[in-house]
Amino acid sequence: HTAKSMIVSLSADSRNRQNDVDHPYRQNSNFLYLTGMPYAKSALIIAPGGIEHDGQISHEFLFVQPRSTEKEAWEGALMGLDEARILLIERILPYAELRTFMMKHLSGIDTVFFTGLPTSSIPIPLADKPLSVETIIKNDIQSTFPELYVKTTLPTLNALREVKDADEITLMKKAIDISIEGHISAMKESHPGITEYELEALMEFAFKKGGAEDIGYSSIMGSGYNTCILHYTSNRKATMNGDLVLADCGAEYQNYTADITRTFPVNGSFTADQKKLYDIVLEAADSAIAEAKVGNTFRAPHNAAKKVLLKRMIEIGLIEKEEQLKWYFMHGTSHYLGLDVHDPGTMGTLKHGSIITVEPGLYIPPGSPCDQRWWNIGIRIEDDILIDSNGPINLSESLPRTTQAIEALMKSKNK
Ligand code: GLY
Ligand code: MN
Ligand code: MN
Repeated sequence: HTAKSMIVSLSADSRNRQNDVDHPYRQNSNFLYLTGMPYAKSALIIAPGGIEHDGQISHEFLFVQPRSTEKEAWEGALMGLDEARILLIERILPYAELRTFMMKHLSGIDTVFFTGLPTSSIPIPLADKPLSVETIIKNDIQSTFPELYVKTTLPTLNALREVKDADEITLMKKAIDISIEGHISAMKESHPGITEYELEALMEFAFKKGGAEDIGYSSIMGSGYNTCILHYTSNRKATMNGDLVLADCGAEYQNYTADITRTFPVNGSFTADQKKLYDIVLEAADSAIAEAKVGNTFRAPHNAAKKVLLKRMIEIGLIEKEEQLKWYFMHGTSHYLGLDVHDPGTMGTLKHGSIITVEPGLYIPPGSPCDQRWWNIGIRIEDDILIDSNGPINLSESLPRTTQAIEALMKSKNK
């Protein structure tokens, strides 16, 4: 049955910001994974049963934009039809022929899989609902080929991306090592009064200096009550003496991203209450990492973290029963990590060669139903764990993660 199927993988759209000025381009991760092609307006077609095109049967077709001297004056050289041969895909064709090619060859096919779509929906404010690109694509193709199954995901690809090969692990380690330098530099330069955006700039300066092309996601640099906002990214506040800073930042290196969080006191010393909660989160992280083992369920690390948080939070009187834990811990503990910060995977048992995050936290925003002394304390500790048949390997372990090690690092700032 695969003999009659076709896989279509599309490059990411370039996103216009204003007249003739685009956002920085980032290739779609599925397309990049399958091709290595970094440029827009390209597509891959895989046909396991082979397709006869121009008198020759092939199984893989890459569509790319031909080179153009006028364009290159603005954008620099891209990979044209000749250059793209380095990607070792059987046939290279001009991108403009993609639609004709598909319409011609879909007639012999029973199932077409898209590896995802460049945009999930087109927001049209005057319509009731945004139009789904999925519907548009399905309708367009379906009207010509009513018998065809059109699928807009390819689960096999999630399974492939879940397990990293040796080259991918090398790139991940590099992204993580660069990120560690960024976190160290933000911690060392920190002092009361420094703004969140200055800390963000120090972090990202170190990323660029280390050779990272980009950040893997918007840097989260929250201080004081902002430590309690899980995806805080505006980073506009000035820190104050006594604040904690929660830095969730990861560099992207050759399209692979790290995802690391550390929480540190802006003045270099944890208060007793901050330390108490920090040590609970650290204990939860350690017990979750210990469960990040081949063959365990995907939820095993999360369950281990929750168990510790629940026990300790009851002990110190912040909650009384299990249902209340979600007041202060309201997210999962792990996700896959790779080309995307929230990388795809099967959510099945943990596999050798997979990389997941372990990131328990506690967040106590002002107004919480507890003694005010705990308010404004938000703590997350996030590490990147390689699942290995010899046991979990914490790839971000060398970045200080105990209160003592963080305080020692911050005291070393003027050396
Ligand atoms: N940085 C986003 C996350 O930790 O999942
Ligand atoms: Mn994460
Ligand atoms: Mn994170």
